[in-house]
Amino acid sequence: MCGIVGYVGKERCVEVLMQGLGHLEYRGYDSAGLALHEGSAIESIREVGRLENLGRAVAAQNGHISHMRTGIGHTRWATHGRPSQENAHPQVGGDGSVAVVHNGIIENFAELKEELVGRGVRFSSETDTEVMAHLLAEKVEAGEPLREALTAVLGRLEGSFAVAAVSAREPGVVVAARHQSPLVVGLGEGENFLASAVQALLGETREFLVVENGEVVEVTEASVRIFTQDGEPVEREPFEVDWDAEAVELGIYEDFMMKEIHEQPEALRATLSGRLDADGRVDLSEMDLDLAGVDRIVVVACGTALHAGLLGKGLIERLARVPVEVAVASEYRYSDPIGDENTLVVAISQSGETTDTLAAVGTAKAFGGKVLAVTNTRGSLITREADAVLLTQAGPEICVASTKAFAAQVAVLDLLALDLARVKGTAEEDELHSLGRDLRRAPEKVAATLALLEGKIGDAAGLFEDARCSLFLGRGPAFPAALEGALKLKEISYIPSEGYAAGEMKHGPIALVDEQCPVIAILGEGVLREKTLSNVEETAARGANVIAIAREDDAAAARVGRVALSVPDAPEILRPLVWTVPLQLLAHDVATDRGLDVDKPRNLAKSVTVE
Ligand code: F6R
Repeated sequence: MCGIVGYVGKERCVEVLMQGLGHLEYRGYDSAGLALHEGSAIESIREVGRLENLGRAVAAQNGHISHMRTGIGHTRWATHGRPSQENAHPQVGGDGSVAVVHNGIIENFAELKEELVGRGVRFSSETDTEVMAHLLAEKVEAGEPLREALTAVLGRLEGSFAVAAVSAREPGVVVAARHQSPLVVGLGEGENFLASAVQALLGETREFLVVENGEVVEVTEASVRIFTQDGEPVEREPFEVDWDAEAVELGIYEDFMMKEIHEQPEALRATLSGRLDADGRVDLSEMDLDLAGVDRIVVVACGTALHAGLLGKGLIERLARVPVEVAVASEYRYSDPIGDENTLVVAISQSGETTDTLAAVGTAKAFGGKVLAVTNTRGSLITREADAVLLTQAGPEICVASTKAFAAQVAVLDLLALDLARVKGTAEEDELHSLGRDLRRAPEKVAATLALLEGKIGDAAGLFEDARCSLFLGRGPAFPAALEGALKLKEISYIPSEGYAAGEMKHGPIALVDEQCPVIAILGEGVLREKTLSNVEETAARGANVIAIAREDDAAAARVGRVALSVPDAPEILRPLVWTVPLQLLAHDVATDRGLDVDKPRNLAKSVTVE
């Protein structure tokens, strides 16, 4: 939450910072701002609301700032203090000698503020960040170099933060540090960059340095120097990112959500590539984990990643006969969990920086559990906490609502289930290879689903015109898919939506059902299809407008549903992936019909780096 950028180098600072913020806006869009430094003063521009407001303010400067070569920028997701000009970053300290941008929360800000007020410091915002700006300014105004001042101030902060600062006394220098919030350095020629995430800088460089917890980095046009908290220089190898700059551009699409829904076949292909051969044999040797002793699995995750975990549980338990607990990370972190060194903790996180998931990993480590991270973000915090990592290869996901990362997470968990069953000897090799060959068809089947649904969502979306709420129903593997469908719809359309096990619906939620509560039913296959159909009939009998998600040739879908959304016939292992596609498209179209911005739903941010 919140995105920060920094730049030192050529006379293009404003352009680089604005572009970087544009690619980080998914992290928060309550306000945005820049602090630019040239000569002896820092110039700040801050605007409430979307980045485009800041863009207009920058344009109104008529090129006055376009030649500047040093600066920092911020896009905010409000934590302390409502979205306002005063609370926007950069926050300025002292007599304007220092400007700071910050992502995270300073937990002890109240006592630090009291101390500063006691020394006569006047505050102009309600933010926790301003204490950092004043603490820094005190030291800088007393003659300390900015880097040393930041090192000293870090020692006083509790909480999570990534911070970047400039000082009026040190032109051409940006310093930054982090603790539990992400920060990368981008390396250029005669220019260097800082950002919360690599996607902010893909148009500029592919070469990055990670900054570790507690380190301070000093960036100039010619150098990047990293120091420990004791002031010792650190040698750090750069890493290359192979994502394309186009991956963070809209291309032919009107929004990133639609683009990313359509990128699912490619996300699946890239995620399975090299891990599944033509015979259906899984190779996860990259994770270098001994699975033989694993007698219990705990999945920790939040939101959509949690739903992927629920799907993983089904397959792992069925094939590998290892019990799987799927835990909401924010609950697990404060629980008294059961586990030992034979417990494998699978932490799923697209961003790799979700605070609750990271804390849940910490909880699991306390009982000696081995941690496997499933993440989309190379070099993210979770990759450094985990014993082993399986990267999803979905490419950068920009839309706040997760789609292609979910598909890739499900695919990785499928691979894990097949591998674990092989190691445990709980399923015949032939069966596992056959499932593996089925899994290889995931890109093809998801592409076929997209093709089949092209232009077919309109009638279903139309049923939401007067909707008060909606109910997503499924059984077995269709139940986690229903939970995911409900989350997608509620988060981008703001229509209250519940995902429910179809058989459980009559124990409460059926009371919601009327003409203004569309029911979205994933019919599924086999015996569960028959059971689900009966449950759906019960809602139709009470006036529900039913949208039935079912195979193309499923005659019952047309009978029970006001609208049927067809999906192709698919092998069992691929069905959840196929069912999710119409749910994603439906959420998208319902939200756009309401004139809403699907990529940036209200109150949300993509990387949740606060508790
Ligand atoms: C919903 C969504 C969120 C995330 C959740 C976890 O569409 O995107 O529910 O899934 O915030 O985020 P990560 O996977 O980054 O830990």
